[in-house]
Amino acid sequence: MVTIKIDGKEFQVDENKNLIDAVKEVGEDIPYFCYHPALKIVGMCRMCLIEIEGNPKIQAACNTPVKEGLSIITKSNRVKEAREGTMEFLLANHPLDCPVCDKAGECDLQDNSFSSGKGASRFEFPKRNVPQEQIGENLLINHNRCIVCYRCVRFEEEKVGESNLGLFERGYHSLIGLANNTLINHNYQGALSDICPTGALLNKKTLFKSRVWWYKTAKSICHGCSTGCNTETNVRDNRMYRYMTRENRELGMYFLCDKGRFDIDWLNENRLQTYQEKGIPTESTKVVPTIISKIKSANKIAIIGGAHESNENLSIILEESKKWKKTVITEARVDNSQYSAKQIDFLMTDDSHPNTKGAVDLGFVSTGKISDIVSEFNKGSIDLLFVIKESIPEGIQSGKGLVVVLQTNITASVKDADIAVPIKAFAEQSGSFTNKNGVKQDFEASMNPILGMPASSDFFRRLSLELSRKEEVLVGNN
Ligand code: SF4
Ligand code: SF4
Ligand code: FES
Repeated sequence: MVTIKIDGKEFQVDENKNLIDAVKEVGEDIPYFCYHPALKIVGMCRMCLIEIEGNPKIQAACNTPVKEGLSIITKSNRVKEAREGTMEFLLANHPLDCPVCDKAGECDLQDNSFSSGKGASRFEFPKRNVPQEQIGENLLINHNRCIVCYRCVRFEEEKVGESNLGLFERGYHSLIGLANNTLINHNYQGALSDICPTGALLNKKTLFKSRVWWYKTAKSICHGCSTGCNTETNVRDNRMYRYMTRENRELGMYFLCDKGRFDIDWLNENRLQTYQEKGIPTESTKVVPTIISKIKSANKIAIIGGAHESNENLSIILEESKKWKKTVITEARVDNSQYSAKQIDFLMTDDSHPNTKGAVDLGFVSTGKISDIVSEFNKGSIDLLFVIKESIPEGIQSGKGLVVVLQTNITASVKDADIAVPIKAFAEQSGSFTNKNGVKQDFEASMNPILGMPASSDFFRRLSLELSRKEEVLVGNN
């Protein structure tokens, strides 16, 4: 830590931080556009201007090193005038688009214009007008809103490892465009739109879907792979609209990949809302007794899947199934990727389960593999198989034992199962996932489940309760 002065007051700040962040941490604010904590400094936007004592010229804060004795002024008339000048230039050609712009309500340009702008423009000429273009399979650029901060170009080069975008022409004519004539098709088009500080880069999937202030937000964790990126969920009328990045600087989490970001439709559509028996909707009171009598007569029971479930659900399932006093095998790893996940790109892994590590840590695993469970089931030594939010494993022969699938959505396995049980999705409950690095991260409930819908753990609790209730009745009758 070092001591610096901000507007005459002394503060202890971390010298390893960028000055913008160091100042923010002690409750002061320096506006910025091009600075991003995960990207290299370029000093392009000139929004972060400050005075440094002993230095005659106004300076950019983002590339000023934090060191002992530094004394900066962020609130003088000179700084105010300099920032107003920057805003006036940035807005000279910027259209008055806020009422129709998707970024409105979460736009740095709006915020900085409000806090540091002049509120009036002296620009009297017609504004430059360049037509909107599609630059990615899921990405549009509205050139008129671009402030040439270069974040998009840097993000692609530094993080994605591709250079699809470039800055062409100069000055008034500057344009961000495609370096080649092929549309961007990488896994980070949503992230490009996210890091753009204005409404220049637009994500087609959420375009014009909702104003951002209508959303109810919750802290969540991406469900898409074992990286466990931190998200903020945006829900409106109990429908999931968006996942947005929730920065976690300690863990270096600043972005989301498209696979995780856009994996939301399953929460809103095609949900399993009733119990099913052989693909036909039924009631729990009809199917639970069938499962109970199977548990009673079973030699061996297997519970597979569960790496989409929270740690809390998994530990209750383990606890409840122990109460049955039967041999119960649990195995959360249904894919090879769950045994040794590989990194697909800088963020995403090939293990599409958010909680494989949590399941392993809890002991929700067996000494064998799924194929062993399949052959034991087919031989008849396992007579009851629970499958939690996974497909029924290949090779399982029907008529050999009872297959009970717990699912959030209507899938082929739900139709093939002897019994299907509807369960809450992760977004309808709180809990935690443990990511590939062993970091246990909590998530909040974002949506309301259908009334009476059980979590996977509730269903196993109910089975235990029913089993013990039957025993009590017998004792009472004797
Ligand atoms: S498109 Fe957005 S991120 Fe890219 S340079 Fe323009 S304002 Fe910056
Ligand atoms: S990398 Fe994984 S956890 Fe992160 S957003 Fe993508 S799918 Fe989700
Ligand atoms: S944030 Fe410092 S110049 Fe852009």
